[in-house]
Amino acid sequence: MRYGHFDDDQREYVIGQPDTPLPWINYLGTDAYFGIVSNTGGGYSFYRDARLRRLTRYRYNNAPLDVGGRYVYVRDDATGDYWSPSWQPTPERELDDYECRHGLSYTRIASARGGIRAETLYFAPLGETLEVWRVRVTNDRDSAAELSLFSSIEFCLWDAQDDATNYQRNFSTGQVEVVDGVIYHKTEYRERRDHFAYFACSEPLAGFDTQREAFLGAYRGWDRPAAVERGAASDSIAHGWQPIGSHHVRLTLAPGETREVNFLLGYAENPRDDKFDPPGSQTLNKTRVRPVIERWLRPETVEKGYADLRAYWDALLGGLRVRTPDQDTDRMVNVWNAYQCLVTFNMSRSASGYESGIGRGMGFRDSNQDLLGFVHMVPERARERILDIAATQKPTGGAYHQYQPLTKRGNNDIGEGFNDDPLWLILGVAAYLKETGDLALLDVPVPFDNEPGSEVPLYEHLRRSLRYTLERLGPHGLPLIGRADWNDCLNLNCFSDTPGEPFQTTENASGGVAESVFIAGQFVLAAKELAGIARLLERDGEEVFYRAAAEKMAGSIAEHGWDGAWFRRAYDFYGNVIGSGENDEGQIFIEPQGMCILGGVGIEDGLAQRALDSVAERLATPHGIVLQQPAYSSYRIELGEISSYPPGYKENAGIFCHTNPWIMIAEAIVGNGDRAFDYYRRLNPSAREEISEVHRCEPYVYAQMIAGKDAPTHGEAKNSWLSGTAAWNFVAITQWILGVRPDFDGLRIDPVLPADWPGFEVTRSFRGATYEITVRRAEGATSRVTEVLVDGVPVPGNLVPAAAPGTTVRVEAVIG
Ligand code: BGC
Ligand code: NOJ
Repeated sequence: MRYGHFDDDQREYVIGQPDTPLPWINYLGTDAYFGIVSNTGGGYSFYRDARLRRLTRYRYNNAPLDVGGRYVYVRDDATGDYWSPSWQPTPERELDDYECRHGLSYTRIASARGGIRAETLYFAPLGETLEVWRVRVTNDRDSAAELSLFSSIEFCLWDAQDDATNYQRNFSTGQVEVVDGVIYHKTEYRERRDHFAYFACSEPLAGFDTQREAFLGAYRGWDRPAAVERGAASDSIAHGWQPIGSHHVRLTLAPGETREVNFLLGYAENPRDDKFDPPGSQTLNKTRVRPVIERWLRPETVEKGYADLRAYWDALLGGLRVRTPDQDTDRMVNVWNAYQCLVTFNMSRSASGYESGIGRGMGFRDSNQDLLGFVHMVPERARERILDIAATQKPTGGAYHQYQPLTKRGNNDIGEGFNDDPLWLILGVAAYLKETGDLALLDVPVPFDNEPGSEVPLYEHLRRSLRYTLERLGPHGLPLIGRADWNDCLNLNCFSDTPGEPFQTTENASGGVAESVFIAGQFVLAAKELAGIARLLERDGEEVFYRAAAEKMAGSIAEHGWDGAWFRRAYDFYGNVIGSGENDEGQIFIEPQGMCILGGVGIEDGLAQRALDSVAERLATPHGIVLQQPAYSSYRIELGEISSYPPGYKENAGIFCHTNPWIMIAEAIVGNGDRAFDYYRRLNPSAREEISEVHRCEPYVYAQMIAGKDAPTHGEAKNSWLSGTAAWNFVAITQWILGVRPDFDGLRIDPVLPADWPGFEVTRSFRGATYEITVRRAEGATSRVTEVLVDGVPVPGNLVPAAAPGTTVRVEAVIG
């Protein structure tokens, strides 16, 4: 069952009924001002940091779902009937029709009731720290309509964590100011004297409210605000309690008439030393923000701001466009998967329907992987991100597992010891270099742990990343796992033998000898990438050393990491094998199958093929490939968090979508296009649209997890939007299945297609030139590309050299 459809021309997902299984969200903002918005107007806004600069409130685990939003109420003043055009928060008031269009960084919700149509467009204009709500109200009746419009938001008192916990203080700190119809939220302005929020309206006001209970009425909810019910605001001024913003506007609409009313919610900062705002002054200095408000309340500015936003996305997405025989592929690659990759760039793992904005910072591992999905769209920002990440690295090569987006410093709460982390830096940098050819990055001085004076060229950081693994090998010559590897929940050293003692998560937790076959595979891949980089730098000795290190590790994998039909997962604290036929549960895990083959292990001797057959036999389901089998049926302290999940969820045999593209890539590497693409389609959200009642999350973005076959809710997705799944699926389809793959020396054309595809086309920018690529399969051919012509001239192998920036190159490839 579907709840909407894709409008491919507009690049919108159109939701046709408000009661989707879960709130289906979208993101506003592209740079510093952000918000999430659901298909019924729910969500919240923040400036840069979803915890510390939260503008509005949202309640995650409330009933009903999705409480807190950007709500407008329409009231028919003749009858007293009122409703919200976004359905929430007045779901009892039936709408005659409803449509929500989630587009790229904007959302439009339109509906009608009793002959009055209202459409709200929400977006945050480029380069501003504000969002616009453009409300258009139309009278479809044949007589005049006397209407009231009410806007509403609930201010968060900035630190969202404190706001949700420290009531004894916060019920007394709220402050607002209302001047010329603009509601200013100035809590914290007394102490910090720099930031405030404002909520403005383009029309003269009939009234306003800023105290929540004055607007709602005591013990009432957003479904029946007293002010809306009686058709009059009370001009309340909040002193403490719960400051809100609500404007009341009266409109008289002739039959057929449409009126536009714009609301602005924005964030502003004054420099602390502002001479207009001496310490002790209780009045906000609005000098800077007034002209901004006036400008953005004008319909022409709004129109242009919206057009500019659309043009911005045209430009970003224009750099890579595909035309394949599969509509779901085109739609995801050309629009939604790319969009999701940029959202993960902006949000990391901070704010979604599942991440509350108050949790963790930026992940070292996560951010490096996110980069794989957006480096081609925003290379300069990828460069900056790499330098930020690398600056948190320790001199040992070790990494803080997370860093804080505002300070860009390593996060001590979580510390280090996730032993896969450092290697991701090499993989991220390699992807950047392949895309851009910008070798100068490697010379940029970057500190360790942000310590001034400790700067060394970025290249040295990469060397230390690799050395970090080499200095931490266990009894089988495999890398020590530390606190965990990619699988955060496989905590083999992190337990206490003493019954009743809590989980250990301090340094000694990583002191054990547990080893990871996953990191071993990742090391082989990273060492080969670093060898490739050393070659470009003409550091021949180092290149040889890294290749030899990769060889040696591949040898340890063959000796101690192979279980007969698949790669093993790990050795635990006691030296017992995990992910082996010897185990009663957790016999085979997906991660080492993917990562070892990505590293090139087992290709020549057929182990890779055998491992992939085992994945197909034991782990694949119609909804995707589960993380391991059999699931752990009970908690096992020596394995840690993985066994804390009920079977089929998350890391305990859930379909952890992030890992599936590794198998797609591995299948492509061994030349199995049918399987690679089949796995791709099992996860592709658009291809799952028809089973939205099972999948339940948004059909336009990937989710982190789909319940596995051991779960009673097999096929149900969770944790949509912010996941490495976005980047890796993008890489799998564009670089390995379609096979248009940036490499150090040019653009590789190496498709591995399903047997029934006659070919496809790709337009791609690469290092400033445009490549018009056509791939055609010769009759009956099943293997790889046999001929590549660049502007009609054959090139050796499948490598297209980088062309001069600004030129357009025609590439024809034939699968022979
Ligand atoms: C989740 C993991 C996640 C980790 C990070 C765990 O509870 O299961 O998927 O990576 O938390 O905080
Ligand atoms: C989510 C984390 O963000 C990611 O870094 C990790 O690899 C997976 N969970 C698996 O545990």
